[in-house]
Amino acid sequence: MPVINSIANSFDEMAEWRQHIHSNPELGFECHETAKFVVERLKEFGIDDISEGWAKTGVVAVIKGKGEGGTIGLRADMDALPMPEMTGLEYASTNEGKMHACGHDGHTTMLLGAAKYLAETRNFSGRVVLMFQPAEEGGGGAEVMCEEGVIEKYGISQVFAIHNMPELPVGEFQTRAGPVMASVDDFEIEIFGKGGHAARPHFSVDPIVAATAMVQSLHTIVSRNIDPIECGVISVTQIHAGTAYNVIPETAKIMGTIRSFEPAVKAVMQKRLVEVMENIAAAYETRAELTYHDGYPATVNNAEKAAFAVKVAASIVGEDKVSDQAARRMGAEDFSFMLNKVPGAYVFVGNGDSAALHHQSYNFNDEAAPVGASYLARIVEAAQPV
Ligand code: NI
Repeated sequence: MPVINSIANSFDEMAEWRQHIHSNPELGFECHETAKFVVERLKEFGIDDISEGWAKTGVVAVIKGKGEGGTIGLRADMDALPMPEMTGLEYASTNEGKMHACGHDGHTTMLLGAAKYLAETRNFSGRVVLMFQPAEEGGGGAEVMCEEGVIEKYGISQVFAIHNMPELPVGEFQTRAGPVMASVDDFEIEIFGKGGHAARPHFSVDPIVAATAMVQSLHTIVSRNIDPIECGVISVTQIHAGTAYNVIPETAKIMGTIRSFEPAVKAVMQKRLVEVMENIAAAYETRAELTYHDGYPATVNNAEKAAFAVKVAASIVGEDKVSDQAARRMGAEDFSFMLNKVPGAYVFVGNGDSAALHHQSYNFNDEAAPVGASYLARIVEAAQPV
C-alpha cells in the first residue's frame, strides 16, 4: 500500500500551502497568521469542530470517524526560528530575521494533508484530534497545551507526531522504542569574589580563577561520574566576567546546558554539578549560586506504539525503507510533554539531501509532504479501524 492516491494528487496544493507558510514564518507563541491559515484550510475541508487559542495561537480540531471508538491525537508544530534565511528561494521568508529552518512549515502541511484526506474519507472509528502547536523551538507550546488540559478535554488516549530529517532519503522513516530525543536543561552559576586592583591580587578574591577551575571540573562529570554505557552532556557555553585589563571583578558567571535520556543520569549530573560548584568555589575562597532550569524532558516512545508506527510506515513505503533503530539525538522536542501523558510515538521522515536543520540554507522538501501525510492518515485508520 503506497502513498495514498488522493494525497499524492494533492501534491501541488500541499506544496502551495507549505510555500505560503514558508514565506510567512512566525516565532514562538505568536503564530497568529499561521493559525489563521490552518483554520481556513480546515474549514475548507468541512471540519467544523475547531478550537483556537490553545497556548495563545495553537489550533485544535476534531474529525469524527464512523461509529464509536477511541480518540487519537496527531500533533504538528507551526513555529519558525529567529534567524535570517539564505536559501535564495522565490518563496523565501518575507519576515526579516525569521525563517522556517526546522521544517515546521512542512509538518503543518503534512498534518493538513492528512486532515483533508481524513475529513473526506472518514474511514476510521471514533475521533482524531489534530493539534497544531506554537512555540516548539522554545517556550514549550506543547507543555502549555498539556497544562491547559488538551489531552483530558478531548480524552486523547494515544499521540503521534513526525519530524523531517535531512540526509535520510525522501520516502524513508526512522524511529525507535524508548528515548529518541534528550532532556535539555540549562544552568547559570554566579561566583562571588572580591574585586580589586589587578596589580594587588592578594587583596582580592578572584572569581575568574574560580570560574575557570569550575569549567574544567564540570567537564569531568560526564567522563568520571556517568556510566560509559549511558549518555550525558554537560557543556559550558558562556562565561562572563570583568570590564578592564587592570581590574579583578567582583563576580563571574558560567552558563551551560545539561542533556540526557534517562532521569537517573540527569540526577547524577545535577548532584555533581552542585558538589563541584560548591567545593571549587570554597577552594578558591569564593561563593557560588546556582540557577537551574528544567527544560524539555526526554522524548520517550512507547515500545508498542513505536512498533505500530514502524508497521504503518512500512505499509506506505515498504519494510526496507523503515528503520526501528534510529540514532538517539541530543536535541530536544516538546512533544515529550504529550508522550509523558499518554503513550505514542515520534518518527523521523526523510527530507533527502537538504541542508541541516536550523541552517540558513535549509528547506523542507515538498516531496516528503505526501509521504508524511499518508503516514499520519494511515496511523489513524490502522489504530481505529471501522
Ligand atoms: Ni523542529
